[in-house]
Amino acid sequence: MITESQVTELNRFSRTLTQEISNPAAKAMLYGVGLTEDDMQKPQIGIASTGYEGNTCNMHLNGLSVYVKQGIQANGLVGLIFNTIGVSDGMTNGNDGMRYSLPSRDLIADSIESVVSAQWYDGLVTVVGCDKNMPGALMAMARLERPSIMVYGGTIRSGHYKGQKLDIVSAFEALGKRYAGNISDEDYEGVIKNAIPGAGACGGMYTANTMASSIEAMGLSLPFSSSYPATHEGKQEECKKIGAAMRLLLERNITPKDIISRQSLENAFTVVMALGGSTNAVLHYLAIARSAGIQLTLDEIQAISDRVPLLADLKPSGKYYMEDMLAIGGVPAVMKYLYEQGMIHGDCLTVTGKTVAENLAEAPDLDFDSQKIIFPTSQPIKKTGHIQILRGNLSPTGSVAKITGKEGERFEGVAKVFEDEGEIINSLSRGEILAGQVLVIRNAGPKGGPGMSEMLKPTSAIMGAGLGDKVALITDGRFSGGTHGFVVGHVTPEAYEGGPIALVKDGDKITIDAIGRELTLHVSDEELAYRKSEWKQPAPRFTKGVLGKYIRNVKSASEGCVTDED
Ligand code: FES
Repeated sequence: MITESQVTELNRFSRTLTQEISNPAAKAMLYGVGLTEDDMQKPQIGIASTGYEGNTCNMHLNGLSVYVKQGIQANGLVGLIFNTIGVSDGMTNGNDGMRYSLPSRDLIADSIESVVSAQWYDGLVTVVGCDKNMPGALMAMARLERPSIMVYGGTIRSGHYKGQKLDIVSAFEALGKRYAGNISDEDYEGVIKNAIPGAGACGGMYTANTMASSIEAMGLSLPFSSSYPATHEGKQEECKKIGAAMRLLLERNITPKDIISRQSLENAFTVVMALGGSTNAVLHYLAIARSAGIQLTLDEIQAISDRVPLLADLKPSGKYYMEDMLAIGGVPAVMKYLYEQGMIHGDCLTVTGKTVAENLAEAPDLDFDSQKIIFPTSQPIKKTGHIQILRGNLSPTGSVAKITGKEGERFEGVAKVFEDEGEIINSLSRGEILAGQVLVIRNAGPKGGPGMSEMLKPTSAIMGAGLGDKVALITDGRFSGGTHGFVVGHVTPEAYEGGPIALVKDGDKITIDAIGRELTLHVSDEELAYRKSEWKQPAPRFTKGVLGKYIRNVKSASEGCVTDED
């Protein structure tokens, strides 16, 4: 039982409803949902789940929330589950659906903030599983100064077909093989039917696993949260442990603002770089940092990339899947190694109530003799991080490149411009995509898209067609974490705002220089000024509803596409 003095501290929000005489209706409702007189004294914890049946990333989250609730109740707290929306990028099918994906991040943040604030919860647990759910949850956690923990739904297991391991990207790449005539109808269907064997987030070091790993590194989920696959028994055990952790956070009044700091953000990005994570992490951490009142910049991210090598042979550019990580000690073992190499700040606080260094003292060691997923810093896959911030006359305020080194570090080619990602697929099927082209997909930015679509479909199709190392792709949209190849996204200012990407014409020469970190359009200033004078801003694609509101509010990709003020 909690003591009276603890009650005063721990239920400092919910007591407004349960203790103050002015709220009889709220108390009556709480009795109505089954709370007892004893429960009225207890702190209330909102458990926000993005669970829903329609996709594998989120289908199991409501079930995990029940385990979280059991752990909460077992620790003398009241757990109340609520749901918020989620969008699975794997099911958006091109622009029409994908436009809603990034905006969903901010809707999730707004929804969680609304419920927790309106219902006076004392603490928050978020149970989330897909790309935008995690940053959305963290943005809400950062806004709400209440003890909070994130539970990751876990990675998916691999699919199998004819002796090959598969994941969601295999399904996209099968389409490219089909266009190129490199796959039979039977094998095409075989890949589609077997790529996704059940619950869990997309299985490579794509955006979901990138965010989960780095959020664990930042200290906002329990150790191993990112390493247990969705169907592993450790995931259920983690859920049951949340109650004790939440109890401790309440007792010490540790909130996300005690955990999110410049140093813990650096820890997060150090793990993103070492593991070869998604470029979407740039957008999401810019936004999370702003929600916590920290002005993270692209240059700070570049500085981390300059000092942290790429060490992990994980998909999309490598061989292994996230499910393989648990056997080698998971993210804690990687963090421990990075800490020993002086790359991790050990004194950052975490949701265990301990520091990162204290947590890592209990972590397993990486065994470089037996495991082949993580390379030692003396023999990295790439000496610096794979995420590079490029500027130049084509992206004066920044763009984000993903360069693992396997594609080379410089590409020169001629522009082929598309106003819609779907056109690339059509162009590919007509055999018009040729070696040496820089494919420019524009008006796909946060306002112009709107919603900054991911280009997984075109990039996977290009890979599947065997053109991955022969063409480059630049866009004011963004890339899925599953993307590999020579790609530059988040080009700012975006075309809709009249950025130089709006002025590119077919046949223009473009250089992508990942060493000099420059994105150059080889057109004279005079010609660009002339093209700009001829340019007219397109009409917004939406004026109403979610996307109309998004166009009016969203900021540049270089500011994390936030829809909130600082
Ligand atoms: Fe949900 Fe990949 S689409 S994790």
